[in-house]
Amino acid sequence: MTDRELINLAFSALENAYAPYSGFRVGAALECADGSVFLGCTVENASFGDTVCAERCAVVKAVSEGRREFRRIAVAAASGEYCLPCGSCLQVLREFSPDDMVILGVRGDGRYVSYKLSALLPRTSIKSAMDELTQDSE
Ligand code: THU
Repeated sequence: MTDRELINLAFSALENAYAPYSGFRVGAALECADGSVFLGCTVENASFGDTVCAERCAVVKAVSEGRREFRRIAVAAASGEYCLPCGSCLQVLREFSPDDMVILGVRGDGRYVSYKLSALLPRTSIKSAMDELTQDSE
């Protein structure tokens, strides 16, 4: 699948975004290692902290359907700025993704920037740090 096709899917996911409080609607299209794609959208809540970002929505859908390795995600919003995942979403992506997972940040006119996950969230290998701790205590 091309970047553009994945981006178009992210825009289609945006149509379902529920964002009555911020008005900032985001769509995400997550490509897994087997080529399957899961869509996600912003799901806000009147209790603001319970809001789910589009990216995490897509991750939860993918993992619940048995996918645990991701290779690319497109994130789109009808904004003049490139839409990139927040810190929490980067950490959640990190759980299931290699360093070179590609993140496409898309703005409303369709232009996009492309980053590796490791560029946006460097030096965050909590899982391997935990492995070390476990080994130390044995
Ligand atoms: N949001 C996302 O869904 N994904 C992003 O990448 C940026 C932020 C949502 C959360 C909140 O509902 C609204 O956009 C404004 O931050």
